Amino acid sequence: MDASAFSQALLNWYDREKRALPWRGTRDPYRIWLSEIMLQQTRAEAVAPRYEAFLERFPTVEALAASGEEEVLKAWEGMGYYSRARNLRKAAIQIAQGGGAFPTSARELMRLPGVGAYTAAAVASIAFGEPSPALDGNQARVLARLLAFDEPMDTPQRLRAQALALIDHARPGDYNQALMDLGSGICTPRAPHCDRCPVSAFCAAFAEGDAESYPRLPPPVAKRAVELTVALAFLDGRVLVRRRPSRGLLAGLWEFPNFSEGMLADLLPGARITGELPRARHVFTHLIWNMRGLRAEVDAPPEGMRTVDADGLAALPFPTALRVYREIAEKELRGGRKE
Ligand code: ADE
Repeated sequence: MDASAFSQALLNWYDREKRALPWRGTRDPYRIWLSEIMLQQTRAEAVAPRYEAFLERFPTVEALAASGEEEVLKAWEGMGYYSRARNLRKAAIQIAQGGGAFPTSARELMRLPGVGAYTAAAVASIAFGEPSPALDGNQARVLARLLAFDEPMDTPQRLRAQALALIDHARPGDYNQALMDLGSGICTPRAPHCDRCPVSAFCAAFAEGDAESYPRLPPPVAKRAVELTVALAFLDGRVLVRRRPSRGLLAGLWEFPNFSEGMLADLLPGARITGELPRARHVFTHLIWNMRGLRAEVDAPPEGMRTVDADGLAALPFPTALRVYREIAEKELRGGRKE
C-alpha cells in the first residue's frame, strides 16, 4: 500500500469533514492533555461542554496545580471515573513542581499519573507533532480492515508495527484524530459505512467485500464452570455477609457465604436449612458460576462474618453475580416474606 497516498486521502477528508470539537483549534498541551483525559471514558459529544467549563475554572496547568482536590472533583462532577480528576490534579502539581514545562514526548508524558500509552501518543502527536500512533481498539479496527490483517486481534498492540509504518509524519496529530473520526462515524465495529469511506480505495478488507469480518476475533477463552452453593443465613432479622479477599476475583466486595465443596455445616456450624432458593448463573470472562441457594437460620455469626439489615445490605458493594440472592435477601429483610 502507498502509505503517503493513503494518509493524503485520509487527511483531505479530515480537513473537509472533521468534527468541530473545542480542543481541535489549539496546540496548547494543557488543553490537549485535558481533552484526552476527559475523552478516556466519555464520548466526545458529552465531553465538549464539560471541557469548556473546566477550562474556565482552571485555565492553566498552574491554576490546576494550585487547586484543592475537592474543587477539582466538583468540576468533574457527573463525568464518572473520578480517579481521572485526582490524577489530573496530581499531574498538574508534578508539572508545576518541575518548573511548569509540559513533557513533550510520549515516553515522558507516560510518567504523568493517569496517562497511559494511548493518551501519551494522542497528546504527543497533537500538541508536539510526534509521530506516535494513538493505537486503541478503534485505530486497530480501522487498520485491521485496511490491511486485511488476518491474525486474531487480542490486543491493539498486534498492529503496532503497521501503525508506526503508516502514520503521517507531517501531521501526526491530525492523522490520529482522522482515524478516530473515521472509526467513530464510518469504520464502525458493526455495519461499517464503506460507501462513505474516504479511504476505501486503499482498504484490503473492502476489496474482499466483507470489511465487517475484520478484525478477526481471538478464539473464545475456555471458561471454567464452578458449582457454588450460596447461603442466605438469617439471624434476628439480619443476614450474614462476609468480605471477599483483597486480591483476586471481585476483590474486596461483600458476599453471602458460599462454598463449592463440602456442606453448609462446614461453613456455618449449627446452621439449620429452612429452604431452597432458585438457581442462578453468572458468566465472567474466564469463569462461570452455577449457583444454587439455600435459606438457613443461624444463632451467631461465625468468625470473620457479620450480619446486616436491609439498608446495611443495600449499602455494601456487592457483586452483580449475586444479584438474584441479594434481591431475595433484601425482600425478606424488608418483611416481604411471611412466616
Ligand atoms: N477520542 C480520544 N481522543 C479524541 C480526540 N482528540 N478527538 C476525538 N475523539 C477522541
